[in-house]
Amino acid sequence: MQIGIPAEISAGEARVAATPDTVKKLVASGHTVLVQRGAGQAANYPDAQFEQAGATLTDDAYTGSQIVLKVRAPQGEEISRLAAGTKVIGMFDPYRNPDLDAFAAQGVSVYAMEMIPRTLSRGQSMDVLSSQSNLAGYKAVLLAANEFQRPFPMFMTSAGTVKPARVVIMGVGVAGLQAIATAKRLGAVVEATDLRPTAKDQVESLGGKWLDVPMSAEEQDNAKKAAASGYAWMPGPQYIADQAVIVDKAVSNADIVITTALIPGRNAPRLIKAETVAKMKPGSVILDMAVETGGNVEGSVLGETISTANGVRIIGTPNIPATLAAQSSALYANNLLNFLVTLFDKEGKLALNPEDDIQKALLIVDGGQVLLKRG
Ligand code: NAI
Repeated sequence: MQIGIPAEISAGEARVAATPDTVKKLVASGHTVLVQRGAGQAANYPDAQFEQAGATLTDDAYTGSQIVLKVRAPQGEEISRLAAGTKVIGMFDPYRNPDLDAFAAQGVSVYAMEMIPRTLSRGQSMDVLSSQSNLAGYKAVLLAANEFQRPFPMFMTSAGTVKPARVVIMGVGVAGLQAIATAKRLGAVVEATDLRPTAKDQVESLGGKWLDVPMSAEEQDNAKKAAASGYAWMPGPQYIADQAVIVDKAVSNADIVITTALIPGRNAPRLIKAETVAKMKPGSVILDMAVETGGNVEGSVLGETISTANGVRIIGTPNIPATLAAQSSALYANNLLNFLVTLFDKEGKLALNPEDDIQKALLIVDGGQVLLKRG
C-alpha cells in the first residue's frame, strides 16, 4: 500500500508524522512510503535519512497514496488533494474542526488519533494526547523557568540564602504530572490540584503538596463516574466557588504557575482570575498550557508573553510539543505506527474491522458521512 507523509503547513508546526525509524518498519512490512521533501527538516530528520530508511522522496505525497499520515488535519488546498477513498490519520482536533463536512464531501475516511479510548490498555501505545502532553508538561516548566529571574532550587551561599521557587500546577493529567516531576527535579517546592480526587496520591508520590478542594457527596459521586471514562467531570457552581478560594490563595503566593486544565471537546475552564494575578509578586510567571482552547488564565494571549501592571509574566506559547519537535515527532510517529499496523492482516493486506473498539472510536468521517457526534 502507498503511504504518504506530506510536510505540515500549519504555522509553527515543526513536527512530522513519520520518522526514518517508522518508515523503515513500514517499508519492511511491504508498504511504499512517499515522504515530501523537507517534511522532517524542522524536526531534525533530513531527507537523506528518510531515503536511507527506504522512503521515496517526492514533491507530492498525496497523489496515489491510499493512506496519508499527518500531524495536523489537512486544511484548505490539502483537503482537495485527497482522493476519494484515502484514509487520513492524524490529530484532527475533532470537536473544533470546521472541515469535517469537507472531508465527508471529499469521500475520504478520517481517523482522529485524539479519540483513542483511554479505558483500553491496548490503546496506550497509540495515545497521542499522552505522548505529546508528557513532553509539553516538561517543556512548560523550562519555558517558565526561563522567564523567571530567580533559580528553582534552594542555594546556601556566602552572599545569602536563596529560597526555593514555589510552583503551583493546576490540572494533574499527563502534562501536569510531568510538570510536577520536572519542577521537583529542578528543586522547586510544588503544590498541585485537580478535579479528580484520585490525582492526590499521584501528586504526593512525586513529592508535591495536594491543594484540597472540598467536595460534596454528590460531587464525589460525579467524579467517580467520570473517572471510569478516564476524563474529568463537569464541576458545579459550589465546587467552582470553593476551588476559586483555594486557587486564589495558592496562586497569590506562587512564583510560577502552570495551568494544564483541559476538557475534551469544550473550552478550557477559567481557573485564574485577573484579580488573583493582580495579587502575585512582581517577577512571578504563569504559563497557560490551555491558551489554545480559550485559556485557564484571564489575560493570557495566544502566542504572546505579556507583562501585567504588577510585573507578572503570562506565557501563552501555543503547541508546546512542536518546540521539542525531534522527540515529539518520534513518539507521535510511533503512536501512528502502532495504530496503523492494526489495520492490516499478517499478509500485509488491509483488514479493517468496523467492530474494533479503537478503529470505531477513531473513525470520525467515512462513506461521505461525519460519524462524530457533535453538539
Ligand atoms: P487533560 O489534558 O484532558 O486535562 C488535564 C487535567 O486537567 C486533567 O487531569 C483534568 O482532570 C484537569 N481538569 C480539567 N478541568 C479542571 C478544573 N476545572 N479544575 C481542575 N482541574 C481540571 O487530561 P489528560 O492528561 O488527558 O488526563 C486525564 C486523565 O486520563 C488522567 O487521569 C490521566 O492519568 C488519564 N489517562 C489515562 C490513560 C490510560 O489509562 N490509558 C492515558 C492517558 C491519560
